[in-house]
Formats: sequence, structure tokens, C-alpha cells
Amino acid sequence: MKAIVFAYHNMGCIGLELVQKAGFDVAAVFTHADDPNENRWFESVAEKASELNIPAYAPADVNDAVWIQEIANLKADVIFSFYYRHLIKKEILDLVPMGGFNLHGSLLPQYRGRCPVNWVLARGESQTGVTLHAMTERADQGAIVDQCVVDIDEDDDARSLFVKLELSAQQLLKRTLPSIYCNQFQLNTQDESQASYFGGRSPKDGKINWDMPASDIRNLVRAVTDPYPGAFTYFNREKIFVWKALVVAQSTRATPGTVISTSPWTVACGDQALVIEQAQLSGDIKLSGSELCSRLGAIENRQLGVEPKSDKKKTRVLILGVNGFIGNHLTERLLREENYEVYGLDLDSCSLERFKGHPNFHFFEGDISIHREWIEYHVRKCDVVIPLVAIATPIEYTRNPLRVFELDFEENLRIVRYCVEYKKRLIFPSTSEVYGMCQDERFDEQQSNFVLGPIEKQRWIYSCSKQLLDRVIWAYGQQTGLDFTLFRPFNWVGPRLDSLESARVGSSRVVTQFILNLVEGSPIQLVGGGNQCRCFTDVGDGVEGLFRIIENKNQAASGKIFNLGAPNNVASIRELAELLIDLFARHPLAADFPVASGVRVVDERTFYGSGYQDLIHRKPSISEAKKYLKWAPRVALRDAIENTLDYFIYSAIEERQFLETSAAH
Ligand code: UGA
Repeated sequence: MKAIVFAYHNMGCIGLELVQKAGFDVAAVFTHADDPNENRWFESVAEKASELNIPAYAPADVNDAVWIQEIANLKADVIFSFYYRHLIKKEILDLVPMGGFNLHGSLLPQYRGRCPVNWVLARGESQTGVTLHAMTERADQGAIVDQCVVDIDEDDDARSLFVKLELSAQQLLKRTLPSIYCNQFQLNTQDESQASYFGGRSPKDGKINWDMPASDIRNLVRAVTDPYPGAFTYFNREKIFVWKALVVAQSTRATPGTVISTSPWTVACGDQALVIEQAQLSGDIKLSGSELCSRLGAIENRQLGVEPKSDKKKTRVLILGVNGFIGNHLTERLLREENYEVYGLDLDSCSLERFKGHPNFHFFEGDISIHREWIEYHVRKCDVVIPLVAIATPIEYTRNPLRVFELDFEENLRIVRYCVEYKKRLIFPSTSEVYGMCQDERFDEQQSNFVLGPIEKQRWIYSCSKQLLDRVIWAYGQQTGLDFTLFRPFNWVGPRLDSLESARVGSSRVVTQFILNLVEGSPIQLVGGGNQCRCFTDVGDGVEGLFRIIENKNQAASGKIFNLGAPNNVASIRELAELLIDLFARHPLAADFPVASGVRVVDERTFYGSGYQDLIHRKPSISEAKKYLKWAPRVALRDAIENTLDYFIYSAIEERQFLETSAAH
């Protein structure tokens, strides 16, 4: 009889070996590639399969159509699953006539779900077990073939209980697999009224709450002790792991968490007290409780469990290109919070006046291609790195494509590599431009294709450089565990978007360019007729999304790509020109400026040169940002444009006054 085995972990190895011993012809094993971020203390199913000469696969998604077809081709009779971590869809189960059987580490219907070995200990159970059951679409719900009870002793912890469960899994499989082989087994439906379900656990679930009874705390300690991440508490702002503990029947009036004895190291709990038998200062070695207690000076009446909050280490954010449009708006947002320190580098600091003297702002005037040592040192020193130095105005892509490649790709690649080397979180500005001339109604981070023109259209060198860097960063994430997030701004607008000066030499984005035309009274030029559309996003909205990426609550932004744009703020370039003309005419200071000269259509080649090619629309899907960052833009198109116009009108007046006073001198 032909079987396919889905397996991982020690249980996977045990199951695989016994299935083969029971006479099944194992046609293939499906397992998982080991996660480099996980402490792998268990045996490898892949190695076991290779020893047994069975072909093994570790697809990221076994339910993908390609794998479903592969599995169908194997024409197996039955499927077994032993601690395989993904749900196997019905489509696969339906491919084998006998269906699938899964081994679960609890006495089903109790403790369905994840991490049953840890949950039963944490909840102080005195019994658990292993169950072999028929697989259905819903996890751990199918009818039971057989189960074995395991007693949990007072001294059991996660590791010893795991060993017991392994032994009983062996017994269980030895007696049930032959009956499956002969197709002579009984199925008993699970009693739904007795079912309980528990979800996944993460390291932060190991935090000790001293208000709980000592027995509950001890249960937590043994549930998550080595090889799991450990129960922990704090003393003097430092994190301490408790690996072994005992309950002592000592009633005390001390506040929970108070040290009531140093040898043994005894701590008051919500009820009774806990002796810490073995513990470890984070980053140090394991010691006996009393030894660690004396080294820490955790003498009687001192308090454990006070989480360092107010004095939480500030997050240091390194912003390269801090004087730029995004850089200075982001700095403003970060400095509004107390727990961020900004280290910024830029060639110039003209937009940073308002932060000078702020205790959490540190500026260095420098160039990313020259001041490499300063950058490397600060990457090591900071927690988050945001390299914003780039050429991001289309005229430069056609005027100076090599400079775009050197700066946007080469110089930034070096920064990316520092982040890999020093294991720093990298937040990198990709661009809406990567989607190029994509025809999708909304550009989607995971689905949309990148569509670029031919090589002679050098406009795309920016998009292409950014795209390659996106791919390189993604690969570093996969291969080295680099913690990164890519964000794609969609035509952010607001104060300090480029400058009137840059617009004067044609090197600014469209909104500033048009505003310059208005304040100077020159005609607005609609390249190619102005029917091409963009979604203009208020910089405050965009920066709020970026701030949430930096915050990275529950690591929700790690390893992800986010479009940050306002899909509803869509306008053609002609509509943008009309809106600006209208807002300008209504502005209280309009009389200080020449009368608008209207719009004029100009062809692409005349305006940008032969290397230019445009895209007709660019609208983001923002479902990723909504889902993971709880972010959506709020500012409407008109307000965003008005705000930008207002800023530049005042800066044009300041510029004029400055020129007048200089001339007078
Ligand atoms: C630019 C950058 O290339 C992107 O990197 C960046 O992501 C994006 O802005 C953005 O801000 O998100 P694009 O929108 O094509 O991309 O650049 P703009 O210079 O703002 O031009 C927008 C449109 O206005 C283009 O169709 C252009 O031809 C047109 N335009 C520009 C005019 O019609 N007249 C002008 O005087 C200037």
C-alpha cells in the first residue's frame, strides 16, 4: 500500500520510520525547510528520509496547484501527517482513497490547535496523550482511530513530557498502523461538547505575572523552559529568564514579586511563594537562583517584575538624506514621540532649522558616497536604518541615467549590506515607479507585474535600479534573516516637495513645477496633453504609514512591502493644473503675483528628451497597509494640493523679500 508522509520534528521522524516498518511503501515525504530563526533542537525529517532513501520535498506551500498535481501523480492510497505545520487542504486529501491520518499531541477533543505540549503544562493538567485521527478540512477535528494517555508528573517539563509523548506515539502507531494497513480500524467521532482549542504561543507569552498563584507561575516555567524560549521577569530593568522553579507553601503579606529570601531565592506570588532554582540574566549564562540573586543584588524586599517602561531605551533611527522631502517630514513625526532619537545625514540642512537644538536630533553634514565611515559607525549604533538618498525626479533619469544608477543603486546597496552585516532593521524606499506601465487597475505589491520600456527609454533606469534593489533586499531577508520593510510612496505632495529653485532648472516633481509656473506667471506645460493620471498623497498621511512601519507593532511590517498612496486622490495632470490654477486664484496673496498664463500642451520629446516614456495611470492597492499597519490616507486631494501651494506661496514671498533686501544692500 502506497503512502505519502507529511512530517516534521522528532514526531515526524518517529512516524515516518514506523509507517515504513508497518509495510507501507512511502512514495514521498513532505517536510519543511528549517527556519534559521528557530532553535532547532529536534531531529530532521529530511535527513531521516534521505537515510531511508525516500524522496523528500519541502515546498513553501504544499497546497499550490503544482504540488497538488505532483501528489496526484504519485497515486498513493493513504496520507499520514506527523507534526507537519501546515494545514493540508481537502483537495489533497481527496486524492487518496483512504484519506489522511494525523497524529496530534493531546487527548482530542481536548487541546486542539497549536503547541499542545506547552499548553497542557501551563494549565497544570495531570494527563495528556497522543491521538491518531482521520484528517478533515478543519484542524484536529476528524474521527479518532486511537489514542494513548500520558500521565504528567509534577516534575515534568516541556522536554520530559515531549519524550513521554514520543514514547506513547511509538506505542500508538505500532498498534494502529497495521490496522490501517489491513483497512480494519474503527473511527469514533469526537465529542464536540468536550472540545477545547488553543492557539500558537510566542516568546512574549513567557512573561511572569507575579500576581498569579505560585503554582500557576511554576506551571508556566515548566511549560516554556528550555528548549522553548523561557519564562521571564525583570529586575533592575534587566530581563531574567527563570528555567526551573519550585512552589513553597509560604504565606506572606509582601506584594507579589517581592524577594522574601535570597537563599534560596524566594519570591512572593499572588498565593504562596516561588523558589527560583535556575535562572539566567539575558545574554549571560544559566546560574542557580541563589547565585544569580547574589550577583544581581536582588536582596530581600527588592521587587521583581517591574518592566522598564519610562526608561525604555530609545529607538535610534538613522536617516540618510534627512533634509529631503520625506526625511524632514519623517523627522518631525518621530520627534513628536519621546522614544525616538534621529541621527541624520545630508548634504544640506536648510529644511532642518526647526529641529536644531532638539535633544533627540543629531545632524551630520555629509555625503553618502564620501562619509562611509560615519555611515558604517552609525548603522552599528542605530536600531533602524532608512536610506532616503536618491535622485527621484524624472528629468534626471533621462539627463543623467548613470548618476541615477550609481546613487540610487550602488551607493544604497552598500548601506543595505551594512544592515545585513550589523543585523539592523532596514526600511527602504522603493517607489511607485517600479510598477512602470503596469495596466492593472490598482497596483498590488504581490500580484502586479513590472512593465518597463526598451533600453533607449532611459526614464526606466530609476525604476529598474529600485526594482533590483528591492529584489536584493528581499533575497537578503530570505537568506540572511535581514529584517526589512520596503515602502512605495505614490506621488506624495506637501510642503518642501523639492523646491522652487529645483523647479526652475526643471528638476522637480510636477506639483512644484506647476506652482513655480503660477508664481512666476509662466504657462503650465502639459506634457503629452496631460491625460496621464497619478494619485496625489498628502505627505502627512504617507509619513504616518512610514511611522507605523518604524513602530513595527508585533513585527507586522517585517519582511513586507507596502504601497503608501491615496487611491481616491486620483487626478489627471490636466485636472491637477486646473485645480492649482483655481486654488491659486482664490489664494489671499494671489494679488502679489502675476496673472496666471494658463496651460500649454508640449510633446514629451521637447520637454524631457528622447529617453522619456510616460505611464498612463498609477493607482495603488493599499490593502496590505490597511491590514498590517491599520493605515489608510485621510487627506483629500484638494486639501493636499492646497497645503502644498500655500507653503510655496509663502516661500516665494520670502525668497522675493530676501532678494529685495540683498539688492538694497
Ligand atoms: C515621480 C518619480 O519619478 C517617482 O520616483 C516618484 O515615485 C513619483 O514621482 C512620486 O512622487 O511618487 P512621476 O509621477 O512620473 O514620478 O513624476 P512627476 O515629475 O511628478 O510628473 C508627473 C506627470 O506630470 C508626468 O506625466 C509628467 O510628464 C507631467 N508633467 C511634469 C507635466 O505635464 N508638466 C510638467 O511641467 C512636469
